[in-house]
Amino acid sequence: MKIVLLGSGNVATHLAKALKVKGEDVVQVYSPNLNHANLLAHLIAAEAINDLNEVKQDADLYIISVKDDAIETVAQSLKQVTGLVVHTSGTTDISVLSAQVKKAGVFYPLQTFSKSKEVSFENIPLCIEANGESELTILNKLAAKISRQVYQLDGGKRKVLHLAAVFACNFPNHLYALANKILNQNGLDFEIIRPLIAETADKVMSNLPENVQTGPAVRADESTLNKHLSMLTDMPELQNIYLTLSDSIKLTLK
Ligand SMILES: NC(=O)c1ccc[n+]([C@@H]2O[C@H](COP(=O)([O-])OP(=O)(O)OC[C@H]3O[C@@H](n4cnc5c(N)ncnc54)[C@H](OP(=O)(O)O)[C@@H]3O)[C@@H](O)[C@H]2O)c1
Repeated sequence: MKIVLLGSGNVATHLAKALKVKGEDVVQVYSPNLNHANLLAHLIAAEAINDLNEVKQDADLYIISVKDDAIETVAQSLKQVTGLVVHTSGTTDISVLSAQVKKAGVFYPLQTFSKSKEVSFENIPLCIEANGESELTILNKLAAKISRQVYQLDGGKRKVLHLAAVFACNFPNHLYALANKILNQNGLDFEIIRPLIAETADKVMSNLPENVQTGPAVRADESTLNKHLSMLTDMPELQNIYLTLSDSIKLTLK
């Protein structure tokens, strides 16, 4: 399949590599910053462009993987193409594309992607949606080539999944960053806490999280909770987070 990739960030990079390995022909990479387009294009032997007017018109598939707020603008530039146009966003409605192009779809990988960390696409759930049966068949086939977990999900369900993903991934990662800040301020290294993070994630692979919650809030150890809060008096924003999350843990016990 002849594919044009619009975007050269975290998702575009991993998707391009996975498609290339499966023999798909990613012919062009667009990115506003030509250096970024070049970096990815070089990896997969594609042409790099930074002008939407130069997008090839004869591709079978256009994958828009730019920041959510730019998807509509990029789609506007694809009005004339006859190929299928998809985006990779969890929360953007398919109508953002179908208002601009005839064949529209969604190709949303439910994983956290950073260019610096390799991923195995075959274990990544791929959520697809399309505005026509033949378009859905095309996406289903392509998704099944790179992943063992393909889900046909409507936009409503996909948005719920993305919201849950923010709680399950983005927020915990931010909390790791805050833990690192507390450690660093006190001369301790993040390394010491990595086994704890790994075990916490591992436990929920075989248990429901609410059944394996530990810590002072779930034990209602008020003196420990108060000591922690007093240790955070110089960092009121962390104190707020500590209080909110501890109250939330206590609520799940009721
Ligand atoms: N990262 C994840 O874990 C993840 C997971 C699933 C889905 N997604 C979705 O995948 C899409 C891409 O996310 P990402 O994390 O890969 O983003 P990213 O790494 O931040 O890359 C964003 C891309 O958008 C381009 N861009 C920025 N502003 C633009 C504009 N005004 N017009 C056109 N292009 C613009 C950037 O180009 P330059 O670099 O040239 O500026 C870059 O190629 C988003 O829809 C996101 O919701 C992300």
